[in-house]
Amino acid sequence: MDQMIIDAGQKRIGSQQCDICNFVYVPTDQEDAKLHRQVHKKFEGVIAFHGWKNERVVYDDVDFRIIQVKYDDDRRHWQKAEDVLEVVDKSLGVNYRNDGTRSGREAFLAVANEEKQVIGFVLAENVSTSDIVSRSYLKDGELRVVQDLPDANSKRLVGVSRIWVRPSAQRRGLATRLVDALRQRRRFPGGVVPKGDLALSHTTEMGEKFASSYFGRSDYLVYRTT
Ligand SMILES: CC(C)(COP(=O)(O)OP(=O)(O)OC[C@H]1O[C@@H](n2cnc3c(N)ncnc32)[C@H](O)[C@@H]1OP(=O)(O)O)[C@@H](O)C(=O)NCCC(=O)NCCS
Ligand SMILES: [Zn+2]
Repeated sequence: MDQMIIDAGQKRIGSQQCDICNFVYVPTDQEDAKLHRQVHKKFEGVIAFHGWKNERVVYDDVDFRIIQVKYDDDRRHWQKAEDVLEVVDKSLGVNYRNDGTRSGREAFLAVANEEKQVIGFVLAENVSTSDIVSRSYLKDGELRVVQDLPDANSKRLVGVSRIWVRPSAQRRGLATRLVDALRQRRRFPGGVVPKGDLALSHTTEMGEKFASSYFGRSDYLVYRTT
């Protein structure tokens, strides 16, 4: 038994643990070092994006742009949105793998032009008539319902399923820009989606702070799948 441990130990001579992502690897081993870079990038929410020839740019700023990707776009484009979603879900600690069937899905990716990385993400979808809609807010980590809205014309509500901005890019108005872009660009009867027709799928403490600022009131629409 001891011998096995020693053997394993010898194999990993020179190994070290990354202070940031906790990955144990041998820096001099090229394969190992490469694996660490991948794990580390995911941990930090770094998502490379080298651009597409036919990307749908819906907002263009000096250092970043916002790209709209629809569910029925080029498969590779939607796949990229799903890859981002995976990183986002990891950082949010959620996993709704089965919601791929929801209708009206589209993503908005904020991409840093120089770094060529995704720095923000919004995933929108239709709120379905079977969803439970309420006017709620978050307190001490729990959702408090102010009012259930069983008659909400939920078919028209636009669900904000995920909203995420990379830590290093937060508090610069990026989430605001992303949600504005969604409201302006989503196909919606009558044009721009009014703020009051947006519902959030779930909230975190940060999401709560953003939402109360964005909506200008302490409670907002939340939808849940039955
Ligand atoms: C929530 C989140 C998307 C906000 O992104 P953001 O780009 O930093 O938001 P904005 O810069 O547009 O914020 C607009 C306003 O919302 C409020 N706000 C946003 N984040 C806040 C925070 N962490 N603390 C306090 N107020 C906050 C502020 O009033 C802010 O305006 P100000 O910076 O001028 O004070 C981002 O913090 C995030 O990705 N968090 C982790 C993921 C998450 O929790 N997502 C929500 C649940 S799906
Ligand atoms: Zn690391």
